[in-house]
Amino acid sequence: MSVFFLFSCQSKDKYTSFTPGEHWLDNNGVHIKAHGGGILYDNGIYYWFGEHKTEGEAGNVANVGVHCYSSTDLYNWKDEGIALSVVPEGSNSDIEKGCILERPKVIYNKNTNTYVMWFHLEPKGKGYTGALSGVAVSDKITGPYSYMHAVRPNKGVLPFNAKDIHKGESHTEGISFDGGSLPGNVDSLNILGRDLPTGQMARDMTLFVDDDGTAYHIYSSEENSTIHIAELTPNYQQHSGKYGRFFPGRFMEAPALFKKDGKYYLMASGCTGWAPNAARSAVADSILGEWKELGNPCVGNDAETTFHSQSTYILPVQGEKDAFIYMGDRWTPDNAIDGRYIWLPVQFEGEKFILEWKDKWKLNDFL
Ligand code: GAL
Repeated sequence: MSVFFLFSCQSKDKYTSFTPGEHWLDNNGVHIKAHGGGILYDNGIYYWFGEHKTEGEAGNVANVGVHCYSSTDLYNWKDEGIALSVVPEGSNSDIEKGCILERPKVIYNKNTNTYVMWFHLEPKGKGYTGALSGVAVSDKITGPYSYMHAVRPNKGVLPFNAKDIHKGESHTEGISFDGGSLPGNVDSLNILGRDLPTGQMARDMTLFVDDDGTAYHIYSSEENSTIHIAELTPNYQQHSGKYGRFFPGRFMEAPALFKKDGKYYLMASGCTGWAPNAARSAVADSILGEWKELGNPCVGNDAETTFHSQSTYILPVQGEKDAFIYMGDRWTPDNAIDGRYIWLPVQFEGEKFILEWKDKWKLNDFL
């Protein structure tokens, strides 16, 4: 009998605290399936969207789609079903069952009164070579979301901070890219220039809506070597063409971005696949830079592995000043469905933010 059947038979008491790394059961007593996710607060309710993983290693591909849960207290989550479904095999769709559909994030667009979901998409059977960003929209927050398109961002457009080398030839021939670090100076290869005609690669990603309503897509680009921060159009469904490249050659994944007291903070991981590594952090006065790296925000035991997790989102707690929650994934690649959630309070120390492990904590700890 599957261990997940056993969980689903258990009744559960109401949660009154966070216990990072433990199974986290929804209102039906089933371990939550919202990996690589993000949260949107809407009309007094938090909605958590994430990857619905399935059993075994093959559960790392999208067999179901994007799952949505709702909560008013952040501890107890109600299953709202599948917000975006993959389509049956053989349909030749980009989001066919068996594709890779990761790190979905949803934002609300006031101009069109629609919810807009972006995600990292790899068409079925092509590994991670597609490096596409998918878009789906719905007029109801829980969905169903309609798939619109998938793109490589900013085709034919140079970033505002392109260097002279990006205006010339690329020098990537004969180099094999595996998503991890490369010897030497990445900029000199001009991966950006190589991809100008097709659009830029976009893998791990998040979204951020600024106070003025402008939305940004933040993603690992240029063979994962460099983060791009790209403005979206007013309906949030395309890239506007205004974007910048940051942290060239730093190979950052799993970006999460938040704003506090007018400053922008970024957290990201290094590139080691499902295996955890030491996180990075950075601060900026403007979302389009200059960004200044602040080092690993984690302190204490297991800081070098981000407490065996990888960032996915940093959630502002509504109605609490300076209260932000780090949301990370503890991946279990051999049995994807068993991935755990590491949520920790974000603390501030001088110009930095820091994360410390807690076995158990409550929102009251922010007060
Ligand atoms: C991680 C990435 C995950 C997934 C994984 C596959 O680095 O953050 O979202 O793509 O690699 O190995």
